[in-house]
Amino acid sequence: MACFVTFAYYYFIILSTSFTTIHGLFSEQSVSAIRMEKLTRLHFYFHDIHAGQNPTAIRIVGPPNKSVGSFGTSFMIDDPLTEEPEASSKLVGRAQGIYAFASQQDSGLLMVLNFAFIEGMYNGSTLSILGRNPFMDTIREMPIVGGSGVFRYARGYALAKTFSFSEKTEDAVVQYNVCVLHH
Ligand SMILES: *[C@@H]1O[C@H](CO)[C@@H](O)[C@H](O)[C@H]1NC(C)=O
Ligand SMILES: *[C@@H]1O[C@H](CO)[C@@H](O)[C@H](O)[C@H]1NC(C)=O
Repeated sequence: MACFVTFAYYYFIILSTSFTTIHGLFSEQSVSAIRMEKLTRLHFYFHDIHAGQNPTAIRIVGPPNKSVGSFGTSFMIDDPLTEEPEASSKLVGRAQGIYAFASQQDSGLLMVLNFAFIEGMYNGSTLSILGRNPFMDTIREMPIVGGSGVFRYARGYALAKTFSFSEKTEDAVVQYNVCVLHH
């Protein structure tokens, strides 16, 4: 059985005395502080549903005419994230944001997404992706640029791999493996 959280452990520990410089009310700066970074790996399936009564991906911008192909086409999504590939498996969060056809030469999407988790200790925490998704490639790597809650100070990467795609409906199930360092 696939597990949502594969493991989490303390990545490294820096212990040192710190000193703080306070500049009035506006700012303070610490040279160093106790810092424990964790490495967390997540594994889940992303369901991009275009067809039917309840689509989770909606086209919000279309190309001006056929001469530019798909370039510029943009979708707003609120896609379920599940533990297993089946849509009926346990919901662990949602992917909310925009993807847009951003390449005139090949298949490259601009991804601007937040993963909003609801599972266990991750409920209420988010991770943010900002990256390029060459969706015809077998495995696409995208940067994780930040996070909130459990994932404060997050940085890392996501590897996306298409699990299934329907040419007819354009519905897709995509496997995500995410690896992040965070506090
Ligand atoms: C198609 O759109 C492009 C970019 O907006 C424009 O330059 C071009 O003139 C348009 N072509 C037609 C046939 O409308
Ligand atoms: C997540 O947290 C919200 C708000 O605290 C709560 O209403 C909800 O039941 C929680 N969901 C799960 C799956 O624990």
